[in-house]
Amino acid sequence: MIKLAPSILSADFAALLEDVKKVEAAGCEYLHIDVMDGHFVPNITIGPLVVKSLRNRCNMTFDVHLMIEDPDKYIEDFANAGADIITVHQEAAVHLHRTIQAIKALGKKAGVSLNPSTPVETLKHVIKDIDMVLIMTVNPGFGGQKFIDTMIPKIKEIKAMADQENKNLEIQVDGGITPDNVKLVVDAGANVVVAGSAIFGTNDIENTVKLFRKNSEG
Ligand code: DX5
Ligand code: ZN
Repeated sequence: MIKLAPSILSADFAALLEDVKKVEAAGCEYLHIDVMDGHFVPNITIGPLVVKSLRNRCNMTFDVHLMIEDPDKYIEDFANAGADIITVHQEAAVHLHRTIQAIKALGKKAGVSLNPSTPVETLKHVIKDIDMVLIMTVNPGFGGQKFIDTMIPKIKEIKAMADQENKNLEIQVDGGITPDNVKLVVDAGANVVVAGSAIFGTNDIENTVKLFRKNSEG
């Protein structure tokens, strides 16, 4: 059974709470919160203040994806704001092992994300220490981009590594996932599926969520 993580990047920011309530009511497990700084990626989104105000109104697991330079500076702020999982980019964390330990010391789950061009091998020496890996299936920065097919063998590689080294590792995929390609990523080994435009871009969120689950199994 997959976990679904709707990305609020594609929600209506002027009606954010209403949109969040819709995905919570539809039974989605994680709320994926994309944090962009205009440096690591060419877009700017939201910060800890928004996370904090949503935290008071929503019981979903807050899955915070930090697409920012120097993530160490902000980990504590996001932890205090109510993040449950904090994911940093391998490419942005110069001392990745230290960053992972800092997230865990704050009592949060630690995730590491890989850009499409970053090899799985870069996680070899930290895979036992992390709770989740996030395989980017688009180049980070924007919602609504096209899924990169060559990421399928990469998901299989991380799954094989996890089977050997860390059986509890969650494998998350992010970017361009729709009900039409969800089976491909799940069969390759993903168990947490991020979807932004495919979920918030429909008029019927409940049915789209059902379709994601049905197609991931069938
Ligand atoms: C991209 C973000 C994604 C994005 C996914 O940089 O990390 O979470 O919101 O959006 P879709 O599902 O529309 O590709
Ligand atoms: Zn994301």
